[in-house]
Amino acid sequence: MLFKNLNVVTSRGIKNWDILVENGKIRDMGRFSAKGTDFNGSMTIPSVIDMHVHCRDFSQDYKETIETATKAAISKGVTGIVEMPNTAPPVNNKEIFEKRRTLFKEKSYCDYGINFSVTEDLSFFNGYKFIKIFLTETTGKLLFKGDLDRLFSYKKPIAIHSDIKGIKECVKLSIKHGTKLHVCHVSTKDEVKFIKKYKNENITAEVTPHHLLLPKDSENVKPDLGEKEDREALWKELGKTIDVIASDHAPHTGEEKKRGAYGIPGIETFLPLTLDFAFRKKISFENLALLISENPSKIVSDKKGFEIGKDADFTVIEEKEWIVDSRKFCSKSKFSPFDGMNLKGIVKTVILRGKTVYDGKKIKKINCKEM
Ligand code: DOR
Ligand code: ZN
Ligand code: ZN
Repeated sequence: MLFKNLNVVTSRGIKNWDILVENGKIRDMGRFSAKGTDFNGSMTIPSVIDMHVHCRDFSQDYKETIETATKAAISKGVTGIVEMPNTAPPVNNKEIFEKRRTLFKEKSYCDYGINFSVTEDLSFFNGYKFIKIFLTETTGKLLFKGDLDRLFSYKKPIAIHSDIKGIKECVKLSIKHGTKLHVCHVSTKDEVKFIKKYKNENITAEVTPHHLLLPKDSENVKPDLGEKEDREALWKELGKTIDVIASDHAPHTGEEKKRGAYGIPGIETFLPLTLDFAFRKKISFENLALLISENPSKIVSDKKGFEIGKDADFTVIEEKEWIVDSRKFCSKSKFSPFDGMNLKGIVKTVILRGKTVYDGKKIKKINCKEM
């Protein structure tokens, strides 16, 4: 299979290339004389991964399911997600993990990774992406009360939901044990400053579009939205201290929101907002490629990323303006703080492992895989 004349957005610039795909994987890239599908120079982002998604399901299927969340992902150009374990019941033992795995295998429209949670019980196994620990309050009751030093000593990748106190402790333990640490949704200038000082190849950091954009107290999310200085510090370190933008897609019903639930649905504004950042020159396209594609791919999967031998995942986009309307979301959670916003950049076609799963109108289900 040959995809011709794509303008591929990479961290080394936009490359006009043909892509040779074999068995769903990138076989070669460059210029080829053979005939193929002509993309007429369309801009394309390879391997778009949202590494922070809450799909709910299980007993909370009234507000989101793996099916609706991953359909939402594909509809807005996201070909891979990593799911968080604060489900009900939580993904914190082997049995539930395997149930989750089966559910993803049956229902998912995009490729996926599943995080595992520990609270006190340190008996864990392989197969998950990260051990996700919650050091401060959020949705679900998964606060970690065990021995952090011991947890880090296992040298399994750890993702944290934390404030600066926990971030400091975990960064030090990551350095002590050489354990991979991913800091979810960094939100303050002090956190950025601290991570910047100690960052090494084992330590990665993430920010959400809402922490970059929304003013303090305008939405009930965890961590809380910051002040202007916090947002400025986050923008300044994009692609440097901050490796990844991820949505923290957190669906709730309107009723639950009224009662103070934390979080907003974000998977359907994740790529559109970041595309808008690039089209309006708030970040470079090189940085866009790093933040939503190359870095998350490197962090979560050896199968993803724009390289020969990796999965042929491509999101074809166009510089067109449109207006966010959450009533049209595929997610069950139909509200957004970005409603009414005029964004530059639409998704035209989505290709997952060489197959077209979205053509601008219809979403198609193929067998999806663990990343
Ligand atoms: O606002 C949030 N909501 N932040 C989180 O970290 C969790 C999420 C949720 O699961 O609702
Ligand atoms: Zn969190
Ligand atoms: Zn979260």
